[in-house]
Amino acid sequence: MEHLAVIMDGNGRWAEKRHLPRIMGHRAGAEALDRCMHYCKAAGIRYLTVYAFSTENWKRSEEEVSGLMKLLSGFVHSKEKELLAEGVRFRVIGRRSDLSEKLQAEIAALEEKTKAGDFTLIVALSYGGRDEIVRAAMKFRGGTEEDFANCLDTAGLPDPDLVIRTSGEQRISNFLLWQSAYSEYYFTETLWPDFDQAEFDRALASYAKRERRMGGRLTK
Ligand code: FPP
Repeated sequence: MEHLAVIMDGNGRWAEKRHLPRIMGHRAGAEALDRCMHYCKAAGIRYLTVYAFSTENWKRSEEEVSGLMKLLSGFVHSKEKELLAEGVRFRVIGRRSDLSEKLQAEIAALEEKTKAGDFTLIVALSYGGRDEIVRAAMKFRGGTEEDFANCLDTAGLPDPDLVIRTSGEQRISNFLLWQSAYSEYYFTETLWPDFDQAEFDRALASYAKRERRMGGRLTK
């Protein structure tokens, strides 16, 4: 598997179960993301895309939105050394213009500094699949599917092989609509902050058993 994508769901419920503020769930979720990146590297996966903030998430309480933005800018601020040391290339997809100018500039700087990394972490921020497709359509001058894909935020990235969604929900929720046309899905009841090596291994084992026909004949 080359590319794993994750809908990191269940942070809020994880916190509520512990009578903690929701933002504590998102903090625990950020730690789970750190761990997941390491599981991917050890498994030889080269791309990890995570859904960190959707175009719909702006509708959450001001407190939660600003808490999440702080967490994300804290990540962008504090991770440079670690990402460089670990050979991680950082990339953001989504409607960047929704983010503060400061955060946009910090993201662009981190993307530039880490561009030689051989493992790519793609963070979907103010991201919606339909929004991405509409923005791509504005740039598209006609041509092939490949030409259109090159107008998407994910230009140059392989499509995800597997999409994991945690916390028991079984929906796509506007995530990588174009890119997941032939992706496999794995759903688990585990809440994202509890996502661990055993859960990761179960997802990969399930993926390994599937026959991917990609709409054509079985090639395995
Ligand atoms: C969904 O759980 C999760 C989110 C809306 C935010 C995910 C963000 C992180 C894990 C932050 C870390 C990311 C980086 C790049 C530092 P939910 O709040 O919808 O949970 P619920 O369904 O239980 O309420």
